[in-house]
Amino acid sequence: FAARQVSQSVFGAAQRRAFSATSNNLSKVAVLGAAGGIGQPLSLLLKLNPRVTELALYDIKGAPGVAADISHINTKSTVKGYDPTPEGVRECLTGAEIVLIPAGVPRKPGMTRDDLFNTNASIVRDLAKHAAASCPDANILIISNPVNSTVPITAEVFKAAGVYDPKRLFGVTTLDVVRASRFISQLKSTDPANENITVVGGHSGATIVPLLSQAGYSLEGAEKDEYIKRVQFGGDEVVQAKGGAGSATLSMAMAGARFAESLLKAAQGEKGVIEPTYVDSPLYKDQGVTYFASQVELGPNGVEKIHPVGKVTEFEQGLLDVCLKDLKTNIEKGEKWVKENP
Ligand code: NAI
Repeated sequence: FAARQVSQSVFGAAQRRAFSATSNNLSKVAVLGAAGGIGQPLSLLLKLNPRVTELALYDIKGAPGVAADISHINTKSTVKGYDPTPEGVRECLTGAEIVLIPAGVPRKPGMTRDDLFNTNASIVRDLAKHAAASCPDANILIISNPVNSTVPITAEVFKAAGVYDPKRLFGVTTLDVVRASRFISQLKSTDPANENITVVGGHSGATIVPLLSQAGYSLEGAEKDEYIKRVQFGGDEVVQAKGGAGSATLSMAMAGARFAESLLKAAQGEKGVIEPTYVDSPLYKDQGVTYFASQVELGPNGVEKIHPVGKVTEFEQGLLDVCLKDLKTNIEKGEKWVKENP
């Protein structure tokens, strides 16, 4: 009898484990632009994440090849690459909990992110239409630049389809936080893993506002100016070093995978998961700035709580003022374009 009891309870535990692995934590993650410079390492990192159970890869070229390659990695998730057809993108998106979009062209030396607008706006608009039709409840993570404008474009597409949920749309600004944390650790000889510099605003040049004071740091003079410039224009270092062959891909893949992991953790019940991200935000709506990146607590429904910017120094307020002016222009440009090009 005792032996039967033991075996029953063991069976019960195994059953419970199986249950929680199959019914609670099934997470399909789709990557659109999966064969690109960001898409490939991002897909690789997602394949290594045990929270991802199904990885769906789509691109206008090469997704099945990337999927075949990654699918040999000995983690449990299934991987499938989809053909560039309407059925392909539909199947890729159906059932997705998270959709990461790094599709589009990257910068070449001398270009700003806004120079990518003409090409990437229509790519993001079209992919957003597919997502609105096939996975209207998914969390949509926009990586394609200019993020300040491509997020409002995506929102307008979802609104037009009648399925917009502001809690489910995110501009991925994690790389700015990763850079801000790494660069301060280089100046202060600290462990970058322990640094978490809050970065608010948007994702390009002067709209990227690191708030060093909130981490207890104060830099002065040239050191301060160089730090701010490096955080705001860190992407240019990579674009120049690659000499025309693209922009940040590997660090961006890490940042995108980190953000997806945070969303999955929050969806699976973890509390207190906070990431800075560019969302439909009430913080500066009275100034006509309808999207803004600040610390955002994530939860099972996406955005749980948008934290205010908090206490800033006079210098940081100056950076914020410039940021808000630029952001407003970038947002209006996206909204105007998508109205004229629905
Ligand atoms: P890439 O050119 O290497 O890859 C882009 C991929 O998108 C290509 O494989 C291409 O075939 C695919 N693609 C193009 N049109 C598509 C469509 N309609 N549907 C599906 N796939 C499509 O470019 P990379 O380096 O991967 O950069 C991608 C984007 O990410 C760029 O816009 C870049 O500016 C942006 N980026 C954003 C960052 C951020 O922090 N949010 C950081 C770095 C880059």
